[in-house]
Amino acid sequence: MPQREAGAEAFVPATGGLSAMESAVQACRGCGLHENATQAVFGQGAARARVLLVGEQPGASEDVEGHPFVGPAGRTLDRAFREAGLRRDDVYLTNVVKHFKFVPAERGKRRIHKKPSVGEVRACLPWFAAELRLVKPELVVCLGATAAKALFGESFRVTRNRGVLLDFPERFELGEHGPDYVLATVHPSSVLRATDREAAYLDFRNDLRTASDALR
Ligand code: URA
Ligand code: SF4
Repeated sequence: MPQREAGAEAFVPATGGLSAMESAVQACRGCGLHENATQAVFGQGAARARVLLVGEQPGASEDVEGHPFVGPAGRTLDRAFREAGLRRDDVYLTNVVKHFKFVPAERGKRRIHKKPSVGEVRACLPWFAAELRLVKPELVVCLGATAAKALFGESFRVTRNRGVLLDFPERFELGEHGPDYVLATVHPSSVLRATDREAAYLDFRNDLRTASDALR
């Protein structure tokens, strides 16, 4: 039986802005991931950004520094932002899961990223829903399959649906607070793992260009 996570709902303050959420998330016990992580990593960026980008979960660097996308994936993302005409300061950047999930490396002190379970993603969604409610972006960009599946369900395939503007899914139940569109693309870490890195990067950057063009 998969473990049932209690969920973050009870930890999300009923009122307050992004900074109130960011303080409160540190006390979240909505799933087991807080136990081994250094801290929760909340979203960051413009409080009323027109575009909100969402990744999977903080990585090892993010877990230590407390900010999203400050490690290797973040550097790829920053290059793509520059070349797509987006600025980190103008967007809001977050993850569907706020605590780092990892396994220790067999040797040494390195911590190896482990994909969050469907239950952990579900448990953490109230935080992401709060970010959507407060930032009110017009467009959401899903960076990778975990974020895209969190919005569209487990059957969603990034490879088949990437780089196009999709309607924001009703099942997410944000009503009038919902963004207009979602664009799914690959995760910047997958660009770094690709056999042809430059080709993978250019496809990724072109998807961000589509997102950036949609805001004009
Ligand atoms: N990968 C993610 O999905 N998010 C981060 O913040 C860093 C790496
Ligand atoms: Fe709460 Fe999300 Fe952290 Fe789980 S991962 S403890 S739900 S903030």
